[in-house]
Amino acid sequence: MRLGMQIKEVAERLNTTARTIRFYEEKGLITPKKDTVNDYRYFSEKDLVRLSTILALREVGVRVDEIKELLDHPTISIPEYLNIQRSVLYEKWIEMRDMIETIDDMVKETTSDSVLPENFYDLAHHLSNLKRIRKSWKDRWNFDGQATHYDENIKRQGHRFNVHEGYDTVLEKIKNKINLNLGDTCLDIGIGTGNLGAKFLPLGVKVIGVDQSEKMLITCKEKHPEIETRKGHFLALPILDHSVEAVVSSYALHHLPDDQKLIALEEMTRVLKSGGQICIGDLMFKNQLHREQVLSSFREAENQLAIDCIEDEFYADQSLLVEWLSYHGFQVEKQQINDILGFVYARLIN
Ligand SMILES: C[S@@+](CC[C@H](N)C(=O)[O-])C[C@H]1O[C@@H](n2cnc3c(N)ncnc32)[C@H](O)[C@@H]1O
Repeated sequence: MRLGMQIKEVAERLNTTARTIRFYEEKGLITPKKDTVNDYRYFSEKDLVRLSTILALREVGVRVDEIKELLDHPTISIPEYLNIQRSVLYEKWIEMRDMIETIDDMVKETTSDSVLPENFYDLAHHLSNLKRIRKSWKDRWNFDGQATHYDENIKRQGHRFNVHEGYDTVLEKIKNKINLNLGDTCLDIGIGTGNLGAKFLPLGVKVIGVDQSEKMLITCKEKHPEIETRKGHFLALPILDHSVEAVVSSYALHHLPDDQKLIALEEMTRVLKSGGQICIGDLMFKNQLHREQVLSSFREAENQLAIDCIEDEFYADQSLLVEWLSYHGFQVEKQQINDILGFVYARLIN
């Protein structure tokens, strides 16, 4: 009776080397049967499946100890893990791209004489700033903890301050404004439980939802299995360049400080196809003056709760978003829906 495949045969079948297989055996990732007499290893079909999983995960950059954990004591499934790994690789890829672009600029500035141009250091400083900003975002609001009750909470009317006033109106407005055809792709950033993204499904549009919160993504997937969910960040979208027709976002951008918002707009533009559209419905003021006016009216009404809520987050300055988008080749429309809720629609002209 055949005991199983021998190491050479396995190596050939999986397009690897006997040495690599022995390495994973030493690390305790695989334990083929051993013939006690001649010390030959015999691999079963199950060993082969496990080994090909190990090789595949290594190929996409998963560490050996993490693979062992995933296979032996899984706390999350392999697809969930891959979702995280993809977002990590995108972050690294974007960081590398920033570095390469800086090198390009440095090379352009450098002449054959050995004195470095002054702005060489400025370029390096700009790069280090960019790296810092991309890494500095923290979830202060515990969105994982909010996921289960999020949909109930948005329906609640706040007693003195209703942050979700106009929620349904703005989501509907985004859906009506974005022009998409069957088979197009729409990216919803900060998708949460999927309320905005799901509005595009009946149009036969492919919806990808990105969120930094794994729990929100799980809830979204349970409600709308057709939505493809990807773990990721506004500042390093897990999406290839020029691959979507539209980017939408509701009630998410105000979790980023203003300097991060502009990087987020840059990321949205990176993933858009030519002629693509961006539509944002979020907590925002028309401009700085409008913000002062709204805050001062809450002060007069002695509504400290409203002031605290506003100051706890980063409500956008609509004029800054419009200015950035117009400067970067978009035709822009804007509207203020109520004191704290605004809407910006932009289409790439080209
Ligand atoms: C208030 S919820 C809004 C959810 C949904 N868009 C809606 O309109 O109901 C904000 C969502 O944005 C996500 N979010 C906040 N900051 C983010 C960031 N920097 N990158 C990715 N997602 C983010 C949160 O995890 C959360 O799911």
